[in-house]
Amino acid sequence: MSKLIIEGARRLKGEIKIQGAKNSILPILAASLVTRAECVIHNCPMISDVETTLKILRHLGCGIKFDGNTIIVNSENICKNNIPNLLMREMRSSIIFLGALISSVGSAEISLPGGCELGPRPIDMHIEGLRQLGLRINEGHGILKCSNEGGLEGCNISLSFPSVGATENLIIASVRARGTTVLSNIAREPEIMDLVGFLNSCGAKIESPGEGTLIIEGVKNLHGTEHTIIPDRIAAVTYMSAAAVTVGDLFLKNVIKDHIGAVIPVFEEAGCTVETDIKNSLRIIAPTRPYFNRMIRTMPYPGFPTDAQAPVMAMSCLADGTSVFVENIFSNRYKHVGELLRLGADIKVEGRVAVVEGVKRLSGTEVAAMDLRGAAALVVAGLGAEGITKISGLSHIDRGYENLENNLESVGASIKRV
Ligand code: EPZ
Repeated sequence: MSKLIIEGARRLKGEIKIQGAKNSILPILAASLVTRAECVIHNCPMISDVETTLKILRHLGCGIKFDGNTIIVNSENICKNNIPNLLMREMRSSIIFLGALISSVGSAEISLPGGCELGPRPIDMHIEGLRQLGLRINEGHGILKCSNEGGLEGCNISLSFPSVGATENLIIASVRARGTTVLSNIAREPEIMDLVGFLNSCGAKIESPGEGTLIIEGVKNLHGTEHTIIPDRIAAVTYMSAAAVTVGDLFLKNVIKDHIGAVIPVFEEAGCTVETDIKNSLRIIAPTRPYFNRMIRTMPYPGFPTDAQAPVMAMSCLADGTSVFVENIFSNRYKHVGELLRLGADIKVEGRVAVVEGVKRLSGTEVAAMDLRGAAALVVAGLGAEGITKISGLSHIDRGYENLENNLESVGASIKRV
């Protein structure tokens, strides 16, 4: 089993190009099924979640071609409507294929996505909304059998919580429904608007009249398109955290500052200089030791993103001050705390609240990653720790980060995969 070996406390300085957004490419690849044509998608991150998604597309009968970070997917000859259990379990977000299969072939047979490292991942809002659109869903033995003989009927749906996945499934399911669908209280993450942009460029008719509402006028068919994925805002925050713990000076290319509007002030208050005057890029210059004395509440977009909680917590471990994290989105997203404690952090967790007392130094040791963003937190902590940190569980990192160790090594980190 491979490990990352980091020799910490080395200053990071240089330029990193931020990858395409994982949480954009996954729903957009699924949505490409609805076009039954060829789609050319640029700026795709080469990560294992994309590989898993492509395995599902190939299983369904799609043609896939690669050209660097461009994926050409052709869904003309889809011949299946089921996703094997193994593939469903490999990636929680494969539930997004439900809406895509319904819109594309009119039926779907998929296994329940099951739990994941962040706690139970219910799909009640997905199912509730799809049933309102007229989908017939039979659940049994962990399998969802769905069919929409006669097609779906547009209607007004209001989500009880702005769930990202439920929003995406309902958008994709309703683009070819009869009539108009109004979705309210939807998730507003930038990746949702990237999906809307992709679908509209395929001929869908989706309007975004105001915050949290979409009006979708069903169309008969969609056609292929060419689309470029937005940058990964969470990857950007991860590298910003790495700069903050290494007195770093990083120039990040491909950053849309509005996408991290709730995060930039956190770094500025920590004493970092953040320059965003050059279009679609960001420079972060860190102080000798970040100052961190604040409450961080994770919220749906545009609030502080739950995916940024772990990497920013790693930064707060080494900061001067006390910070309080409240994880409002997932019920079990502090798996990284136990591993940060092994590095010498001072963190107390009580339910959804974690109190971090910054310490002067962390000392390297062996730690194990247990989920994607927790793994990123361990890399950040290892970069700021003294001595050698060995991180196992790299499959979690590979799910969402393209070239993480190469990027860090290119700006001065001592980090090797062995
Ligand atoms: C997406 O997950 C992202 N994944 C997550 O990123 C991200 O953390 C999350 O949105 C929140 O921003 C992808 O986009 C592939 P939710 P998703 O539905 O869609 C509960 C990462 O690290 N819920 O907004 O699963 C749910 O249990 C990953 O890149 C229901 O109760 O998130 C959770 O507590 C991790 N019923 C909360 O809502 C439902 O039907 C938010 O979930 C659906 C969700």
